[in-house]
Amino acid sequence: MTDSVKYLLPEEKMPKAWYNLAADLPEPPAPPLHPGTLKPASADDLAAIFPRAVIEQEMTTERWVDIPEPVREVYRLWRPAPLIRARRLEKALDTPARIYFKYEGVSPAGSHKPNSAVPQAFYNKQEGIKKLSTETGAGQWGCSLAFAGSLYGLEVEVYMVKISYNQKPYRRALMETYGARCIPSPSNLTAAGRAILEKTPDTNGSLGIAISEAVEVAASRPDTNYALGSVLNHVCLHQTVIGEESLLQMEMADDYPDVVIACTGGGSNFAGLAFPYVRENLKGGRQTRVVGVEPASCPTLTRGRYAYDFGDTGHLTPLMKMHTLGSTFMPPGSHAGGLRYHGMSAIVSQVKELGLMEARSYWQTECFAAAVQFARAEGIVPAPESSHAIRGAIDEALRCKAEGKAETILFNLSGHGHFDMQAYTDYFAGKLVDAPFEEAALKEALDALPQVG
Ligand SMILES: Cc1ncc(COP(=O)(O)O)c(C=O)c1O
Repeated sequence: MTDSVKYLLPEEKMPKAWYNLAADLPEPPAPPLHPGTLKPASADDLAAIFPRAVIEQEMTTERWVDIPEPVREVYRLWRPAPLIRARRLEKALDTPARIYFKYEGVSPAGSHKPNSAVPQAFYNKQEGIKKLSTETGAGQWGCSLAFAGSLYGLEVEVYMVKISYNQKPYRRALMETYGARCIPSPSNLTAAGRAILEKTPDTNGSLGIAISEAVEVAASRPDTNYALGSVLNHVCLHQTVIGEESLLQMEMADDYPDVVIACTGGGSNFAGLAFPYVRENLKGGRQTRVVGVEPASCPTLTRGRYAYDFGDTGHLTPLMKMHTLGSTFMPPGSHAGGLRYHGMSAIVSQVKELGLMEARSYWQTECFAAAVQFARAEGIVPAPESSHAIRGAIDEALRCKAEGKAETILFNLSGHGHFDMQAYTDYFAGKLVDAPFEEAALKEALDALPQVG
C-alpha cells in the first residue's frame, strides 16, 4: 500500500482496446427486436440510424475492440483520468475502509460521456454522415456529443428533457458554445413530440420521449444519424476505458477493490467501471462485489421487470430485453436527470439476472447529503447522478466501520456538478422532495409491456 493520494497513468498507458464483457458471459446477450415485426433486428434494420462500425460493435462477441488511434488522440485531452484515494473522506467517516474513486469529471463536458461521444462522432464522420441527433437528460451527454461534433465538423441537434432544460440553462449554453442546437423535449418539431404535447401539454418530458424525437429526426434524413449516450452495448463498450485504466491504477496503489460501485442510469458508466472487474471475477481468483445504485424514484434494476421493452416512449426503437419500468412509465422529476430512464442496458440487466452484480436504490435527499459530505472532505462537487455512487460508497464504508473491516471500496465519480448548482441551492433551502412514483402508474406501465412470443 502506498501513501499517495492521486494515481496518475502516463498517456502511453491509456488502454489501446475497449473490453467487451459479452465475450465472457456464460450465455449470449438476447438480441434486440425490430419494433414492427418483433423479430430479431438485423444490421440492415439498424443502418437507418447508426453507422456500420457502431452496428458491428453493437453485435460483436470479440473480447477486445481496438480503439482507433485518432480517438485515442482525442482521449489524450483528458485521459487517463485520475484515480484518487479519498483519504479525507475516510478520516471524516472514521472508517477503516480504503475509499478510491475514478474521476471522470476531468473531461471537457465534465463527465464520462465523451468516452463514447468521441468514437460515435468519429465513426459517423468516417461514413460520410453530416448531422447527428440525440437526446439528453441532465445535459452531460448533449454537451459531450456537441463537443465531439465540433471536433469532426458534424451538425448536432439535441433534444433535452424539458425539466432539465429548465433546471440547467448553462448546459444549453455549453452545447451552443460547441456549435450544437438544443431543443426542449417534447417539442413540436417531431410527430412524437407533438403527440405527447397534445395529450400532456405540461409534461416534464422524459428520456424516453426525447429518444423518440431524436430517432425520428435521424430516421427521416439519409445524411443524419442518431447517437445514444448510454444503454446500448457499444456505449458500454466505449466506457470500459474507465475500468481498464482503474485496474492499472489500483495496481499502482498496490491494492484491489472488495467493492466496486457506480450509479446506473442507462448503465454505461456502471458498465465502464465494473465490467473489467466482473471479468476478473469470472476468470476466478477475485470476488469483488459489484454494486449498481439507482434513484428510488426510478428504480429500474430493483423494481423493474426483466422483459423485452421499447427503449423509447414513441416505440420507434428496437426492443431490448432489459429491466424496465415500462416505456410508458413517467418517472417523477428529480435532479438526477441522467438516471431518470425507464429501462436499463440489456447487458447490465443480463449481468444482474446472472447474479454477477447487486443493485440498490436511494432517495435524492440522502444522495445530496452524501454529495455535500464528499465535497466538504474532497473538494469536488459531484453531479447529482454521481452522488448516488457516493451514497453507496459511504454506506459501505460505514458498514466496514461497524464490522471493523478494512475493505477497499472503489466508486466511479462519473461527473462534476458545476452546472447543477441550482439543485444544491434547492437542497440547502429544504426544497428538494423525495417524490415517490404512484404504484398504480408502475403497474399500469408494466401491464402495458409488449407481448413478445
Ligand atoms: C454525471 C452522470 N453520471 C451518470 C450518468 C448516468 O449515466 P449512464 O446512463 O451512462 O449510466 C449520467 C447521465 O446523464 C451523468 O450525467
